[in-house]
Amino acid sequence: MKDSITVTITGAAGQIGYALLFRIASGGLFGPDQPVHLNLVEIEPAMKALEGTVMELNDCAFPLLSGITATSDLDVGFQNSNWALLVGSVPRKAGMERKDLLGINGKIFTLQGEALAANAADDVRVLVVGNPCNTNCLITMNNAPGIPSERFFAMTRLDENRAKSQLAAKAGVHVSAISNLCIWGNHSATQYPDYTNALVDKNRVVDVIDDEEWLRGEFISTVQQRGAAIINARGASSAASAANAAIDTVRSLCNATPEGDWTSVAVCSEGQYGIDKGLIASMPVRCESDGVWSVVEGVDIDDFSKSKIEESVSELREEREAVSDLIPS
Ligand code: NAD
Ligand code: LMR
Repeated sequence: MKDSITVTITGAAGQIGYALLFRIASGGLFGPDQPVHLNLVEIEPAMKALEGTVMELNDCAFPLLSGITATSDLDVGFQNSNWALLVGSVPRKAGMERKDLLGINGKIFTLQGEALAANAADDVRVLVVGNPCNTNCLITMNNAPGIPSERFFAMTRLDENRAKSQLAAKAGVHVSAISNLCIWGNHSATQYPDYTNALVDKNRVVDVIDDEEWLRGEFISTVQQRGAAIINARGASSAASAANAAIDTVRSLCNATPEGDWTSVAVCSEGQYGIDKGLIASMPVRCESDGVWSVVEGVDIDDFSKSKIEESVSELREEREAVSDLIPS
Protein backbone atom coordinates (compact mmCIF):
# COMPACT_ATOMS: atom_id res chain seq x y z
CA MET A 1 0.00 0.00 0.00
CA LYS A 2 1.27 3.52 -0.83
CA ASP A 3 1.69 6.16 1.90
CA SER A 4 -1.43 8.24 2.48
CA ILE A 5 -1.88 11.65 0.89
CA THR A 6 -3.23 14.14 3.42
CA VAL A 7 -5.97 16.35 2.02
CA THR A 8 -7.23 19.30 4.04
CA ILE A 9 -10.72 20.52 3.26
CA THR A 10 -11.95 23.68 4.94
CA GLY A 11 -15.68 24.29 5.25
CA ALA A 12 -16.01 20.52 5.35
CA ALA A 13 -19.52 20.60 6.86
CA GLY A 14 -20.83 22.89 4.10
CA GLN A 15 -22.63 22.07 0.88
CA ILE A 16 -19.55 21.70 -1.31
CA GLY A 17 -17.84 19.78 1.48
CA TYR A 18 -20.67 17.27 1.56
CA ALA A 19 -20.44 16.75 -2.19
CA LEU A 20 -16.64 16.49 -2.10
CA LEU A 21 -15.54 14.38 0.86
CA PHE A 22 -17.15 11.10 -0.14
CA ARG A 23 -15.72 11.27 -3.64
CA ILE A 24 -12.22 11.91 -2.31
CA ALA A 25 -12.52 9.14 0.29
CA SER A 26 -13.72 6.66 -2.32
CA GLY A 27 -10.68 7.22 -4.55
CA GLY A 28 -12.25 9.69 -6.97
CA LEU A 29 -9.40 12.16 -6.59
CA PHE A 30 -6.17 10.17 -6.49
CA GLY A 31 -7.27 6.83 -7.89
CA PRO A 32 -8.12 3.34 -6.68
CA ASP A 33 -4.77 2.48 -5.08
CA GLN A 34 -4.01 5.70 -3.23
CA PRO A 35 -5.00 5.96 0.47
CA VAL A 36 -6.03 9.38 1.75
CA HIS A 37 -6.13 10.97 5.18
CA LEU A 38 -8.75 13.72 5.47
CA ASN A 39 -8.11 16.78 7.61
CA LEU A 40 -11.54 18.39 7.95
CA VAL A 41 -11.59 22.00 9.11
CA GLU A 42 -14.63 23.90 10.30
CA ILE A 43 -15.49 26.85 12.50
CA GLU A 44 -16.61 26.00 16.03
CA PRO A 45 -20.39 26.45 15.46
CA ALA A 46 -20.27 23.90 12.62
CA MET A 47 -18.30 21.23 14.50
CA LYS A 48 -21.44 19.30 15.47
CA ALA A 49 -22.58 19.11 11.86
CA LEU A 50 -19.06 18.04 10.92
CA GLU A 51 -19.27 15.28 13.54
CA GLY A 52 -22.30 13.91 11.66
CA THR A 53 -20.41 13.99 8.35
CA VAL A 54 -17.51 12.14 9.97
CA MET A 55 -19.94 9.47 11.23
CA GLU A 56 -21.21 9.04 7.69
CA LEU A 57 -17.68 8.82 6.28
CA ASN A 58 -16.90 6.08 8.80
CA ASP A 59 -20.16 4.32 7.94
CA CYS A 60 -19.06 4.06 4.31
CA ALA A 61 -16.13 1.82 5.37
CA PHE A 62 -14.04 3.22 2.51
CA PRO A 63 -11.00 0.98 1.96
CA LEU A 64 -8.84 3.97 0.91
CA LEU A 65 -9.69 6.24 3.84
CA SER A 66 -6.78 5.83 6.21
CA GLY A 67 -7.91 8.37 8.80
CA ILE A 68 -9.91 11.50 9.57
CA THR A 69 -8.93 14.53 11.63
CA ALA A 70 -11.88 16.85 12.32
CA THR A 71 -10.89 20.15 13.88
CA SER A 72 -11.48 23.89 14.23
CA ASP A 73 -7.79 24.44 14.99
CA LEU A 74 -5.99 25.57 11.83
CA ASP A 75 -2.60 24.30 13.03
CA VAL A 76 -4.06 20.82 13.37
CA GLY A 77 -6.10 21.10 10.19
CA PHE A 78 -3.15 21.96 7.97
CA GLN A 79 -0.75 19.54 9.66
CA ASN A 80 1.15 17.54 7.00
CA SER A 81 -1.26 18.68 4.34
CA ASN A 82 -0.22 17.67 0.81
CA TRP A 83 -3.27 19.21 -0.80
CA ALA A 84 -5.37 21.94 0.80
CA LEU A 85 -8.79 22.66 -0.66
CA LEU A 86 -9.90 26.00 0.77
CA VAL A 87 -13.66 25.91 0.48
CA GLY A 88 -14.75 27.29 3.87
CA SER A 89 -16.25 30.76 3.49
CA VAL A 90 -19.61 32.43 3.06
CA PRO A 91 -21.36 32.00 -0.31
CA ARG A 92 -23.10 34.97 -1.96
CA LYS A 93 -26.87 35.42 -2.02
CA ALA A 94 -29.02 36.42 -5.00
CA GLY A 95 -28.27 39.96 -6.14
CA MET A 96 -24.67 39.98 -4.90
CA GLU A 97 -21.47 39.80 -6.94
CA ARG A 98 -18.77 37.46 -5.63
CA LYS A 99 -16.45 40.37 -4.84
CA ASP A 100 -19.08 41.67 -2.38
CA LEU A 101 -17.88 38.81 -0.17
CA LEU A 102 -14.34 40.15 0.12
CA GLY A 103 -15.06 42.06 3.32
CA ILE A 104 -16.51 38.93 4.99
CA ASN A 105 -14.30 36.21 3.55
CA GLY A 106 -10.96 37.89 2.83
CA LYS A 107 -9.59 37.78 6.35
CA ILE A 108 -10.27 34.02 6.64
CA PHE A 109 -7.46 33.50 4.16
CA THR A 110 -4.80 35.45 6.03
CA LEU A 111 -4.93 33.03 8.95
CA GLN A 112 -5.16 30.02 6.67
CA GLY A 113 -2.10 31.18 4.70
CA GLU A 114 -0.13 31.50 7.93
CA ALA A 115 -1.29 28.10 9.16
CA LEU A 116 -0.41 26.49 5.85
CA ALA A 117 3.10 27.93 5.95
CA ALA A 118 3.59 26.73 9.52
CA ASN A 119 2.14 23.23 9.28
CA ALA A 120 1.70 21.85 5.78
CA ALA A 121 3.93 19.28 4.08
CA ASP A 122 6.87 20.55 2.00
CA ASP A 123 5.07 19.68 -1.23
CA VAL A 124 1.72 21.27 -0.31
CA ARG A 125 -0.49 22.54 -3.11
CA VAL A 126 -3.42 24.80 -2.44
CA LEU A 127 -6.67 25.16 -4.39
CA VAL A 128 -8.92 28.03 -3.34
CA VAL A 129 -12.63 27.56 -4.03
CA GLY A 130 -14.17 30.01 -1.53
CA ASN A 131 -15.23 33.23 -3.23
CA PRO A 132 -14.02 35.52 -4.56
CA CYS A 133 -11.56 32.72 -5.16
CA ASN A 134 -8.88 34.54 -7.21
CA THR A 135 -8.37 37.26 -4.65
CA ASN A 136 -8.78 34.91 -1.67
CA CYS A 137 -6.01 32.86 -3.26
CA LEU A 138 -3.91 36.02 -3.61
CA ILE A 139 -4.42 36.71 0.10
CA THR A 140 -3.54 33.13 1.08
CA MET A 141 -0.39 33.10 -1.07
CA ASN A 142 0.83 36.39 0.33
CA ASN A 143 0.29 35.24 3.91
CA ALA A 144 2.09 31.92 3.46
CA PRO A 145 5.81 32.77 3.46
CA GLY A 146 7.99 29.96 2.24
CA ILE A 147 5.43 28.24 0.05
CA PRO A 148 6.35 28.89 -3.60
CA SER A 149 3.79 30.89 -5.58
CA GLU A 150 3.41 28.14 -8.17
CA ARG A 151 1.67 25.96 -5.54
CA PHE A 152 -1.37 28.24 -5.33
CA PHE A 153 -4.41 27.84 -7.56
CA ALA A 154 -7.92 29.27 -7.69
CA MET A 155 -10.77 27.42 -9.31
CA THR A 156 -12.10 28.38 -12.74
CA ARG A 157 -12.66 24.81 -13.90
CA LEU A 158 -16.36 25.00 -13.15
CA ASP A 159 -16.54 27.87 -15.64
CA GLU A 160 -14.60 25.82 -18.20
CA ASN A 161 -16.97 22.89 -17.74
CA ARG A 162 -19.98 25.20 -18.05
CA ALA A 163 -18.59 26.76 -21.23
CA LYS A 164 -17.89 23.37 -22.79
CA SER A 165 -21.39 22.22 -21.96
CA GLN A 166 -22.93 25.31 -23.64
CA LEU A 167 -20.79 24.91 -26.77
CA ALA A 168 -21.51 21.19 -27.03
CA ALA A 169 -25.26 21.78 -26.80
CA LYS A 170 -25.11 24.47 -29.49
CA ALA A 171 -22.93 22.33 -31.80
CA GLY A 172 -25.04 19.21 -31.19
CA VAL A 173 -22.08 17.14 -30.01
CA HIS A 174 -21.12 15.38 -26.80
CA VAL A 175 -19.30 17.61 -24.32
CA SER A 176 -16.18 15.44 -24.60
CA ALA A 177 -15.74 16.69 -28.18
CA ILE A 178 -14.92 20.21 -26.96
CA SER A 179 -11.29 20.99 -26.15
CA ASN A 180 -8.91 23.96 -25.82
CA LEU A 181 -11.46 26.04 -23.96
CA CYS A 182 -9.79 28.58 -21.74
CA ILE A 183 -11.38 30.75 -19.10
CA TRP A 184 -9.32 33.93 -18.78
CA GLY A 185 -9.14 36.25 -15.78
CA ASN A 186 -11.37 36.30 -12.76
CA HIS A 187 -13.98 33.79 -11.53
CA SER A 188 -16.58 36.53 -11.79
CA ALA A 189 -18.99 38.13 -14.19
CA THR A 190 -16.03 39.59 -16.13
CA GLN A 191 -14.41 36.23 -16.89
CA TYR A 192 -13.76 35.56 -20.57
CA PRO A 193 -14.57 32.08 -21.90
CA ASP A 194 -12.40 32.10 -25.02
CA TYR A 195 -14.34 30.40 -27.81
CA THR A 196 -11.94 31.74 -30.46
CA ASN A 197 -9.34 29.06 -29.71
CA ALA A 198 -11.76 26.30 -28.68
CA LEU A 199 -12.12 23.20 -30.82
CA VAL A 200 -14.95 20.78 -31.61
CA ASP A 201 -13.38 17.45 -32.56
CA LYS A 202 -10.26 19.31 -33.78
CA ASN A 203 -12.28 21.82 -35.82
CA ARG A 204 -12.46 25.43 -34.71
CA VAL A 205 -15.63 26.23 -32.79
CA VAL A 206 -16.09 29.35 -34.93
CA ASP A 207 -16.19 27.15 -38.06
CA VAL A 208 -18.64 24.68 -36.55
CA ILE A 209 -20.93 27.16 -34.81
CA ASP A 210 -21.58 29.68 -37.56
CA ASP A 211 -23.16 32.23 -35.23
CA GLU A 212 -20.65 34.83 -34.06
CA GLU A 213 -23.45 36.92 -32.55
CA TRP A 214 -24.39 34.04 -30.23
CA LEU A 215 -20.76 33.29 -29.39
CA ARG A 216 -19.93 36.90 -28.54
CA GLY A 217 -23.22 37.52 -26.79
CA GLU A 218 -25.38 34.81 -25.23
CA PHE A 219 -22.61 32.24 -24.90
CA ILE A 220 -20.27 34.53 -22.96
CA SER A 221 -22.98 35.99 -20.75
CA THR A 222 -24.48 32.57 -19.97
CA VAL A 223 -21.11 31.34 -18.71
CA GLN A 224 -20.42 34.59 -16.84
CA GLN A 225 -23.84 34.51 -15.16
CA ARG A 226 -24.19 30.77 -14.60
CA GLY A 227 -23.39 30.93 -10.88
CA ALA A 228 -26.06 33.60 -10.37
CA ALA A 229 -28.58 31.60 -12.44
CA ILE A 230 -28.01 28.58 -10.20
CA ILE A 231 -28.43 30.67 -7.06
CA ASN A 232 -31.69 32.05 -8.46
CA ALA A 233 -32.96 28.56 -9.31
CA ARG A 234 -31.76 26.58 -6.28
CA GLY A 235 -31.80 29.29 -3.64
CA ALA A 236 -28.22 28.22 -2.90
CA SER A 237 -25.00 28.33 -4.86
CA SER A 238 -23.70 25.46 -6.94
CA ALA A 239 -22.36 22.65 -4.81
CA ALA A 240 -22.15 19.28 -6.59
CA SER A 241 -20.83 20.84 -9.80
CA ALA A 242 -18.37 22.91 -7.77
CA ALA A 243 -17.13 19.82 -5.92
CA ASN A 244 -16.83 18.02 -9.24
CA ALA A 245 -14.79 20.89 -10.68
CA ALA A 246 -12.48 20.87 -7.65
CA ILE A 247 -11.83 17.18 -8.29
CA ASP A 248 -11.29 17.84 -12.01
CA THR A 249 -8.81 20.62 -11.15
CA VAL A 250 -6.68 18.56 -8.80
CA ARG A 251 -6.72 15.59 -11.15
CA SER A 252 -5.64 17.82 -14.04
CA LEU A 253 -2.82 19.24 -11.94
CA CYS A 254 -1.58 15.74 -11.01
CA ASN A 255 -1.73 14.14 -14.44
CA ALA A 256 -0.37 14.86 -17.91
CA THR A 257 -2.63 17.09 -19.98
CA PRO A 258 -3.81 15.37 -23.18
CA GLU A 259 -1.64 16.25 -26.19
CA GLY A 260 -2.48 19.65 -27.67
CA ASP A 261 -5.09 20.53 -25.06
CA TRP A 262 -5.03 22.74 -21.97
CA THR A 263 -7.06 23.33 -18.83
CA SER A 264 -8.24 26.48 -17.08
CA VAL A 265 -7.00 27.33 -13.64
CA ALA A 266 -6.14 30.63 -12.00
CA VAL A 267 -2.43 30.81 -11.20
CA CYS A 268 0.04 33.45 -10.08
CA SER A 269 0.89 35.47 -13.18
CA GLU A 270 4.52 35.90 -14.15
CA GLY A 271 3.41 38.58 -16.61
CA GLN A 272 2.20 36.19 -19.33
CA TYR A 273 -0.18 37.73 -21.89
CA GLY A 274 0.36 41.16 -20.32
CA ILE A 275 -1.36 40.10 -17.08
CA ASP A 276 0.20 41.88 -14.10
CA LYS A 277 2.81 39.82 -12.31
CA GLY A 278 1.52 38.53 -8.99
CA LEU A 279 -2.20 38.56 -9.80
CA ILE A 280 -4.02 35.24 -9.58
CA ALA A 281 -5.53 35.03 -13.05
CA SER A 282 -7.04 32.18 -15.01
CA MET A 283 -5.00 31.15 -18.03
CA PRO A 284 -4.47 28.05 -20.20
CA VAL A 285 -2.27 25.60 -18.32
CA ARG A 286 -0.62 22.32 -19.25
CA CYS A 287 0.64 19.84 -16.73
CA GLU A 288 3.14 16.96 -16.71
CA SER A 289 2.52 13.68 -14.90
CA ASP A 290 4.88 14.75 -12.10
CA GLY A 291 2.74 17.79 -11.30
CA VAL A 292 4.98 20.34 -13.00
CA TRP A 293 2.76 22.81 -14.84
CA SER A 294 3.21 25.77 -17.14
CA VAL A 295 1.10 28.44 -18.76
CA VAL A 296 0.66 27.68 -22.46
CA GLU A 297 2.48 30.35 -24.43
CA GLY A 298 1.58 31.66 -27.87
CA VAL A 299 -2.20 31.25 -27.78
CA ASP A 300 -3.76 33.57 -30.39
CA ILE A 301 -5.41 36.55 -28.77
CA ASP A 302 -7.42 38.68 -31.20
CA ASP A 303 -8.51 42.25 -30.41
CA PHE A 304 -11.89 41.14 -29.06
CA SER A 305 -10.27 38.58 -26.72
CA LYS A 306 -7.65 41.12 -25.67
CA SER A 307 -10.26 43.64 -24.56
CA LYS A 308 -12.24 40.97 -22.68
CA ILE A 309 -9.14 39.71 -20.86
CA GLU A 310 -8.13 43.25 -19.96
CA GLU A 311 -11.60 43.91 -18.50
CA SER A 312 -11.30 40.93 -16.18
CA VAL A 313 -7.69 41.67 -15.23
CA SER A 314 -8.66 45.21 -14.41
CA GLU A 315 -11.26 43.85 -11.96
CA LEU A 316 -8.56 41.66 -10.38
CA ARG A 317 -6.40 44.76 -9.90
CA GLU A 318 -9.32 46.51 -8.18
CA GLU A 319 -9.90 43.51 -5.91
CA ARG A 320 -6.21 43.45 -5.01
CA GLU A 321 -6.42 47.13 -4.13
CA ALA A 322 -9.52 46.50 -1.99
CA VAL A 323 -7.68 43.91 0.14
CA SER A 324 -4.31 45.66 0.31
CA ASP A 325 -4.60 45.72 4.13
CA LEU A 326 -4.65 41.89 4.12
CA ILE A 327 -1.49 41.57 2.04
CA PRO A 328 1.76 42.02 3.97
CA SER A 329 4.18 44.32 2.14
P1 NAD B 1 -21.73 26.62 2.68
O1 NAD B 1 -22.22 27.82 3.41
O2 NAD B 1 -22.68 25.49 2.44
O3 NAD B 1 -20.48 26.02 3.43
C1 NAD B 1 -19.42 26.81 3.80
C2 NAD B 1 -18.81 26.18 5.04
O4 NAD B 1 -17.65 26.93 5.36
C3 NAD B 1 -19.75 26.25 6.26
O5 NAD B 1 -19.89 24.95 6.80
C4 NAD B 1 -19.03 27.18 7.22
O6 NAD B 1 -19.20 26.82 8.58
C5 NAD B 1 -17.58 27.01 6.78
N1 NAD B 1 -16.71 28.12 7.12
C6 NAD B 1 -16.99 29.44 7.18
N2 NAD B 1 -15.92 30.11 7.61
C7 NAD B 1 -14.93 29.22 7.79
C8 NAD B 1 -13.58 29.30 8.24
N3 NAD B 1 -13.05 30.47 8.58
N4 NAD B 1 -12.87 28.17 8.33
C9 NAD B 1 -13.40 26.98 7.99
N5 NAD B 1 -14.68 26.83 7.59
C10 NAD B 1 -15.42 27.93 7.49
O7 NAD B 1 -21.10 27.15 1.31
P2 NAD B 1 -20.70 26.27 0.04
O8 NAD B 1 -21.87 26.18 -0.88
O9 NAD B 1 -20.01 25.02 0.47
O10 NAD B 1 -19.66 27.28 -0.67
C11 NAD B 1 -18.41 27.55 -0.10
C12 NAD B 1 -17.67 28.63 -0.88
O11 NAD B 1 -17.36 28.17 -2.20
C13 NAD B 1 -18.47 29.92 -1.07
O12 NAD B 1 -17.61 31.04 -0.91
C14 NAD B 1 -18.92 29.83 -2.50
O13 NAD B 1 -19.21 31.09 -3.06
C15 NAD B 1 -17.73 29.18 -3.14
N6 NAD B 1 -17.91 28.57 -4.45
C16 NAD B 1 -16.91 28.72 -5.37
C17 NAD B 1 -17.03 28.15 -6.61
C18 NAD B 1 -15.97 28.32 -7.66
O14 NAD B 1 -16.20 27.94 -8.81
N7 NAD B 1 -14.79 28.86 -7.37
C19 NAD B 1 -18.16 27.39 -6.92
C20 NAD B 1 -19.15 27.24 -5.97
C21 NAD B 1 -19.01 27.84 -4.72
C1 LMR C 1 -20.44 29.52 -8.93
O1 LMR C 1 -19.86 29.94 -9.93
O2 LMR C 1 -21.40 28.73 -9.01
C2 LMR C 1 -19.94 29.91 -7.57
O3 LMR C 1 -18.88 30.80 -7.68
C3 LMR C 1 -21.01 30.40 -6.67
C4 LMR C 1 -21.47 31.78 -7.03
O4 LMR C 1 -21.47 32.66 -6.16
O5 LMR C 1 -21.85 31.99 -8.19
